[in-house]
Amino acid sequence: MITLRRLTSADWNTARDLSVAENQREFVGTLDEILAAAEPSHHFHVIERDNEPVGFFNIDTGYGQWFEMAEPGELGLRSFLIDQRFQGQGLGKLTSQALAPYLRQHYSEYPAIVLTVNFRNPGAYHLYQLAGFKDGGDVYYGGAAGPQHVMRLRLNS
Ligand SMILES: CC(C)(COP(=O)(O)OP(=O)(O)OC[C@H]1O[C@@H](n2cnc3c(N)ncnc32)[C@H](O)[C@@H]1OP(=O)(O)O)[C@@H](O)C(=O)NCCC(=O)NCCS
Repeated sequence: MITLRRLTSADWNTARDLSVAENQREFVGTLDEILAAAEPSHHFHVIERDNEPVGFFNIDTGYGQWFEMAEPGELGLRSFLIDQRFQGQGLGKLTSQALAPYLRQHYSEYPAIVLTVNFRNPGAYHLYQLAGFKDGGDVYYGGAAGPQHVMRLRLNS
């Protein structure tokens, strides 16, 4: 069974062993980099299968404040990954199905969650569509890895 759980600073180390393949690093970086760049607005989460960590994501409650592709007050979904040892087993898909209900339960005061996904990452784009994210056609040109689709999931409408 897949569960989504918030990491506290006390158990960040749970996530440190998670990684993606080298050619996927341009999309999310490493866990060491993500944890080192932690801000108070970052809510780190671990994805677990039967209590074993298999993936990670960051819900950024300050996203709408920092990034022009989101409206003030909107959440950001960042650093979503399934560890390379567990990819291709349907875990990303199971997580995508669990994500919207989880967010509507725990972040119901937020109107929407926004993400960017690289044009060269169709697998992740497909998963986000399965999770209910909609592509409104906006493109984000920031970041080092090239243009990204901007996708949004409404949480309270
Ligand atoms: C993207 C990622 C989370 C997918 O996780 P996963 O557990 O391997 O995915 P699943 O096994 O559940 O497969 C998910 C779906 O993607 C599809 N898929 C995989 N590669 C695809 C591609 N190139 N184009 C379209 N769909 C693709 C699969 O076919 C499957 O859909 P289906 O069952 O409807 O056919 C994982 O590859 C990953 O962590 N990548 C590196 C980090 C990353 O890029 N994160 C996104 C940042 S925006």
